[in-house]
Amino acid sequence: PSEKDSTGKTLYNYQGSWYYPNTIQSILNFQKYFEARDTDIILASFPKSGTTWLKALAFAVVHRNKYAANLVSHPLLSDNPHNLVRFLEADLYVNNQRPDLKELSSPRLFATHMPFQTLHESLRDSPCKVVYVCRDIKDALVSRWHFIRKLVKKEYLYSNYPVEEMVEKFIKGAYSFGPFQDQVLSYLKESLVNSNPLLFMRYEEMIEKPEAQVMRLADFLGCSFTEEEKKSGTVENILELCSLSNLSNLEVNKTGTSTCGIAHHAFFRKGGVGDWKNHLTDDMAIKLDEMVEKKLQASGLKFQ
Ligand code: A3P
Repeated sequence: PSEKDSTGKTLYNYQGSWYYPNTIQSILNFQKYFEARDTDIILASFPKSGTTWLKALAFAVVHRNKYAANLVSHPLLSDNPHNLVRFLEADLYVNNQRPDLKELSSPRLFATHMPFQTLHESLRDSPCKVVYVCRDIKDALVSRWHFIRKLVKKEYLYSNYPVEEMVEKFIKGAYSFGPFQDQVLSYLKESLVNSNPLLFMRYEEMIEKPEAQVMRLADFLGCSFTEEEKKSGTVENILELCSLSNLSNLEVNKTGTSTCGIAHHAFFRKGGVGDWKNHLTDDMAIKLDEMVEKKLQASGLKFQ
């Protein structure tokens, strides 16, 4: 099946999600050539749900012993999280590339916006870890709306795109990496089945209780913070390093472009919870919430 987006470009359905043809090509490439390592960590998300933050946090947590002694030279201060943890389908496997990932030291960190079923097929029974971050659909939608209006990838630039149209797309389900609720459910189901160890995180909880959530992340990744680290402020230092204000004010993030072809600054805006209230009507909000709730009802997940 195929659908047109608002600019007339065609989207196709592959394994239950909608993509532009070049993304499907990258996914096929990834599915054919990716060889998972048992120590791999895959950070998964629906676009605009806190991917950049999760990439920064996971990188900082996993590599904290390497850089703890000299925070000034931390890679997160001189490079963007998207270059440190690269997307499988939107970066490494684009344009028919077959990246040589064997040289990367373990644990390798990768990221994806694919739903679990599409990712899983390529893990080939490796017990590697998956972390999924989920955000309220309304905030993810509004964030995406802002993002595509300033996106530097010209072919996807929609300068005067009405938010109403994006809401319609979300309700219909046929948009890049959509439908949101199907993706969330794919990871939620997996967190109950656990054919791969999977940590399900919520952006809202990370905003509300960042210390607890970053400790949860470290526990899951097998590198829990020691009592000594907790006392000496390591958790707080990582949170500060990865904060929206710190990252967005770095020179590299004001000027650079990521290996996935997007200007670094486009990944940082306001952050936080509830900006949708400034852009969506109550009626739109109810429709979106009901649609997600209906899909997730059976699984027990509820948005606050
Ligand atoms: P807003 O557009 O609501 O501000 P993604 O990283 O998945 O592309 O999501 C981008 C969203 O996460 C944007 O939301 C962005 O501002 C927010 N974000 C980026 N870095 C962040 C950080 N370090 N902490 C919290 N939120 C962050």
